[in-house]
Amino acid sequence: MNAASNTTYFDNLRRDLLLPESEAKGIAIQTDKRSRLAFLIDSAGLAVEQYKLLRRRLNALRPQGGLIGITSPGPGEGKTLTSINLAWCFANGGQQTCLADLDFRAPGVADTLKYSVESGGIEDVLTDQSAVHESLRRIGDDPLYALFIHRRRVALDGFLSPVTLAPLLEKLRSMFHWVILDLPPATPMADVAEVVPQVDGAILVIRNATTKKAMIPPACDVLGSKLWGVIYNDSPIAGSEYYGSYGSTGPRSKR
Ligand SMILES: Nc1ncnc2c1ncn2[C@@H]1O[C@H](COP(=O)(O)OP(=O)(O)O)[C@@H](O)[C@H]1O
Ligand SMILES: [Mg+2]
Repeated sequence: MNAASNTTYFDNLRRDLLLPESEAKGIAIQTDKRSRLAFLIDSAGLAVEQYKLLRRRLNALRPQGGLIGITSPGPGEGKTLTSINLAWCFANGGQQTCLADLDFRAPGVADTLKYSVESGGIEDVLTDQSAVHESLRRIGDDPLYALFIHRRRVALDGFLSPVTLAPLLEKLRSMFHWVILDLPPATPMADVAEVVPQVDGAILVIRNATTKKAMIPPACDVLGSKLWGVIYNDSPIAGSEYYGSYGSTGPRSKR
């Protein structure tokens, strides 16, 4: 056995010891067609294929996994949707994955999953009121776990500063193969600039017909060398007009 496979073996063992399945409460996801949760509503669709391509690239880029921050130049551009679908995709491929909502001013993960956070938000972990495993919720049958925000806030109380956030991120790094962080917009607040040094890589989501061109360079500046790539969300090329009925189980589309 070489050094690399030894590391993987012990890493997996460590994760299993730290996260006995019974410790994380499971939650049921209620969803409908409009939710856009690709793996739930259309597991054979083109969106899922696109996420699988992205998963392949990220696994090639960083086989050991790590912390990925998802952001966009502004609000409503698909950060939360991308974070959930990407985390779902990693977990669906069998990799232990954690999705953490860090957009305290506009939390979206719980809403998108139609989950009501009664207690045990990520805030409790950041303020040392609870242990990570008490706030983690298991989603579905794959190894997918989430940390939700309990309540939205205007002032962040230093939640994203390294002194508060870094210990949690290091703990998550030791427990999971991939940790996906649903971040706030990259501009104009300083939130993302605070988190960037703490992640391994960042993905910028740009939304067709929504993102203003002028907002893209400042967002790239914030991410600097941590920028791994850009996702073009809501892109017409991924739609049925381009691919026709190939790979679709639905009725043949008009060309
Ligand atoms: N590709 C898409 N197709 C259809 N609706 C989308 C798409 N991307 C995002 N949305 C919708 O746009 C809204 C904002 O998306 P969200 O992921 O919450 O953005 P953000 O987290 O960047 O604010 C949500 O209602 C979401 O379902
Ligand atoms: Mg969001």
